[in-house]
Amino acid sequence: MESYTSKQLALRNGQDAPEIWVAYKGIIYDVTSSRLWKKGMHYEHWAGQDLTTELGDAPHTESVFKKFQAIGQLISNDTTSR
Ligand code: HEM
Repeated sequence: MESYTSKQLALRNGQDAPEIWVAYKGIIYDVTSSRLWKKGMHYEHWAGQDLTTELGDAPHTESVFKKFQAIGQLISNDTTSR
């Protein structure tokens, strides 16, 4: 699986690049196709970051990620250049 830094993930916030990515438990999902994540915004939550802790605020479980492709894993340190 590909690895990405939080900086690379942050670019895919729906504003700065065409792709919209969201990380959950360190796995990055491509939600670009979702009409519920248009422009990177989902019920007050922004794409381009790890939203693991925020899932507790949602009326749904992590099963919402099943239909999306896991495209990589989030690496915690940012020493890799993009
Ligand atoms: C106040 C917080 C939130 C609200 C009100 C909310 C609401 C919803 C609703 C109504 C749906 C569609 C119906 C369903 O699948 O249950 C949905 C889908 C989804 N949510 Fe949330 N959500 C919230 C937070 C989050 C967070 C924090 C994440 C990421 C960790 C997330 C990820 C998703 C994903 C990936 C989908 C599937 C989108 C699709 O199928 O196109 N949601 N959410």
